[in-house]
Amino acid sequence: MREFDFDAPVERRGTWSYKWHEAEDNDVIPLWVADMDFRTAPPVVEALQRRAAHGVFGYVAVPDEFYNAAISWFHRRHGWDIDCEWIQYTTGVVPAVSVVIKALTQPGDKVLMLTPIYNCFFSCIRNNGCEIEESPLIYHDDATYTIDWEDLERHLANPAVHVLLFCNPHNPACRVWSPEELSRVGNLCIKHNVRIISDEIHCELVMPGHRYTPFGALSPEIQNQVVTCVSPSKSFNTAGLQAAIIVCSDAQLQVKIDRAINDNEVCDLNPFGVEAFIAAYNHGEPWLDALCHYIQSNFNWLRDELLRNLPMLRITPLDGTYLMWVNCSALGMDGDQMTQLLMEKAHVQVNPGSMYGDAGKPFIRINLATQLSRLQEAAHRIITVLSMC
Ligand SMILES: Cc1ncc(COP(=O)(O)O)c(C=O)c1O
Repeated sequence: MREFDFDAPVERRGTWSYKWHEAEDNDVIPLWVADMDFRTAPPVVEALQRRAAHGVFGYVAVPDEFYNAAISWFHRRHGWDIDCEWIQYTTGVVPAVSVVIKALTQPGDKVLMLTPIYNCFFSCIRNNGCEIEESPLIYHDDATYTIDWEDLERHLANPAVHVLLFCNPHNPACRVWSPEELSRVGNLCIKHNVRIISDEIHCELVMPGHRYTPFGALSPEIQNQVVTCVSPSKSFNTAGLQAAIIVCSDAQLQVKIDRAINDNEVCDLNPFGVEAFIAAYNHGEPWLDALCHYIQSNFNWLRDELLRNLPMLRITPLDGTYLMWVNCSALGMDGDQMTQLLMEKAHVQVNPGSMYGDAGKPFIRINLATQLSRLQEAAHRIITVLSMC
């Protein structure tokens, strides 16, 4: 028997799951918002059970173990050495991105992004009174994405652009950026005096054969240009417990970030978030490795099944994340129409690509982090409906 059984059924109806909300009283298969239908790693469950058994859930003084868990994990697994003073904590990666934007910008500044990109970034920028500047990624015939270097540099040279909001690995383009690509982005940002916020929440969801490079690990100069926002929550399925860190080596900027965390009132973690964070980074590695293999085999199965029946679809290769990015334009539909059709006729809930900016309009995003049997049922329904189009 395998050590971790990701095929084991888990009933999420009746647990107030956001992902399963629309599916509560019907046969809808939810393959949309990015959380997973798997139980988290056993050491995380055990740590939470021990904490729950204590029965007292007052305010938390975040302990040294929290910082040490992150420092040790990034050193061991990714070769990135983080100083304890560089770490600040907050209630999630979106709150982290928002406070760093606040610390780095004035209202009216432009924040640049490589689009399509994670939907909440758009509101993070607007909520801080800043303007969105987009450099669309290049979409190739083989459905892969690369950076448009000329366009990126043109935007970075705009004096109104103060920040590049970056996603590594990239949601939804499924790219795990290479050290060469990251160095080139980092050096261009240094040249044009643009700070980088790197959201690395998907950094553990990297498929076998690919390797995540922490942006800050590239060189001391690039480390000083980048503020990294990260959490084990995406990869260990603990997003509802709300704990994340901001890694910033610039002491002056740390002070501004601290101010922004307090201004936004996102300075208190909850006891369960702290427990899960420590247990995941200290003891979660074997489970995580097994998870990534499971996700890759889900991706391979669904890609092959969809393309065998609907060869006109274009599916982006999965370097990282657990999100399949599917171009439906050859079916004569955009992603919004496809999302609606799949919900109404197949009872399968996906995300429309338009959520991730105009560059995402022809696409849908399918969450692969569920039991294979559920994915197989969803594929059967999708193929039946689309074969009639
Ligand atoms: C790139 C990215 N950043 C942040 C988040 C959410 O982070 P949090 O729940 O910690 O606010 C997500 C969730 O899907 C994401 O894809």
